[in-house]
Amino acid sequence: MDLTVEGKAYIDGSFQDCCLGITDGKITAIKKILKGDKHITFSHKLILPAGIDIHVHFRDPGMTHKEDFSTGSLAAAFGGVSCYYDMPNTIPQTTDMLSLLDKINSSEKKSFVDFGIYSGISNRNIQNIAKIGEKCSGFKIYLGSTTNSLMLNSKNLRDVFKAANSTNKPILIHAEDDQCLINYKSDERNLTDHLKCRPSECEETAIKKILTSSKTSKNKIHICHLSSFEGLELLKDKQKNISCGVTPHHLLLNIEKNLSPKTWHKVNPPIRTDIDRAALFDGIQNGSIDVLESDHAPHTLDEKNIEFNDAPSGIPGVETLFPMFLYLAKKEKISFGRLISLFCENPAEIVNVPKGKLEIGKDADFIVIDYKDESKVKSEHLHSKCGWSPFEGWPAIFPTHVFVRGEKLIEEHEMLENQGFGRFVDKW
Ligand code: DOR
Ligand code: ZN
Repeated sequence: MDLTVEGKAYIDGSFQDCCLGITDGKITAIKKILKGDKHITFSHKLILPAGIDIHVHFRDPGMTHKEDFSTGSLAAAFGGVSCYYDMPNTIPQTTDMLSLLDKINSSEKKSFVDFGIYSGISNRNIQNIAKIGEKCSGFKIYLGSTTNSLMLNSKNLRDVFKAANSTNKPILIHAEDDQCLINYKSDERNLTDHLKCRPSECEETAIKKILTSSKTSKNKIHICHLSSFEGLELLKDKQKNISCGVTPHHLLLNIEKNLSPKTWHKVNPPIRTDIDRAALFDGIQNGSIDVLESDHAPHTLDEKNIEFNDAPSGIPGVETLFPMFLYLAKKEKISFGRLISLFCENPAEIVNVPKGKLEIGKDADFIVIDYKDESKVKSEHLHSKCGWSPFEGWPAIFPTHVFVRGEKLIEEHEMLENQGFGRFVDKW
């Protein structure tokens, strides 16, 4: 064994004093006592699987003034995320083989942690789904318009599901119905206007269309960033291949709070009411929601600090998600078990990557936290290029150590590796 790691680790649903044996980047043994070529003991700390964020926008290529694979993946690493999945609404959009392969190449050179890359499905590339599906990590569909978005007409959903059947790749969907959004379109001066322009009815309409057109689909279908009470109701008895995710901002923020600056909190789908927020929080506790995803969507302060109507939508969050929820787990707002299902185990299953669990055969991706090491989110300490967070000042527990494939990436909050360490996880 190359390395053995000793401490209180989350194995099989509980924290146990044990040793993890690691060979060639994989967990190859879990025993009370193990000794490898190298042995590290973490006393008085907890060892958990690293997070998997299946929804980030790292803006590379085309908008690298907002973020790039290097800064985005650095932020991911410091937030305890060993693997991220990048969205296709870049410039150019990731909708064909060339843009996909370029993106994979570039992120292999720049990334600090492992990653997958999605391809977007628009009305124009449905006939290429099977081919692109051989190389991408999954597909993203936008049913409603948003930042630099690629649109799919919902009439084409059935054809898309049919074409994707041969690929065995997950399909992630932004569920806001464009026809519905058009009906409510008007000028916006504040977050209440933004919410009125994107009511939960539009989320409901989109989810209904997805549910009716996907009945015979064999692919995993993931409804991204669920935001409304009504949307969640529709998904309570969903088919086994359908999952849904929620973001920290939809779980922790609501329109009745005095959210300021307003444009920082402009996001699609919008921040809704406390009723929606509370229903979503119940959903993560009781298991009706499957995934926590950051939807890390950075825009610079210059871009955000303009007239509300013209400001872009999007909130950063890849570095703060896990640390804030680790703090909430410590405060017993959610159990460690649920948190690990939501941000490690379930995401890994959806994207089919051998990570997310401290189990023999999985990649040795884990984080170490010091339970007493509470700190506050401070933008100046975060690694995204955007330089701000809506969670400034919120309590969090940042991992002291992060391991990816058995390599120590972060030690005592310091990065030890270079960019380019990260690997594309779906290499054909
Ligand atoms: O608010 C959003 N921003 N929602 C999205 O769906 C896209 C994202 C972005 O890319 O900025
Ligand atoms: Zn997104």
